[in-house]
Amino acid sequence: MMYNEKVMDHFQNPRNVGEIDSPSGVGEVGNMRCGDIMKIYIKVEDNIIKDIKFLTFGCGAAIASSSVLTEMVKNKTIDEALAITNNDVAEELGGLPAAKLHCSNLAADALHNAIKDYKEKNNIP
Ligand code: FES
Repeated sequence: MMYNEKVMDHFQNPRNVGEIDSPSGVGEVGNMRCGDIMKIYIKVEDNIIKDIKFLTFGCGAAIASSSVLTEMVKNKTIDEALAITNNDVAEELGGLPAAKLHCSNLAADALHNAIKDYKEKNNIP
């Protein structure tokens, strides 16, 4: 299986790894089949995602997807972040092998869960 250079770069030098102290929202997703788990932490100020970090226990494509997602999301509004799709993440990485597309799906799903958590905690419809 071949990964492109951008995927390899994000896998080998992942950006924004870790947790955020008292995050505004946390989202976690897992894939039952492969057992991979991804957790996304966001810090929101004035409707902007000021900081985002991730912890991913998973394959190289899952780590690269979470890493590139954090770069896509930082300093975006909540609505802009919600508009990011699974496809956008794979495209931003310059494509993934077909068998690895499910890995990139985890990233957008975890982000959307983190935003949902933020909205629920702040009574935002
Ligand atoms: Fe499951 Fe990549 S193999 S997330």
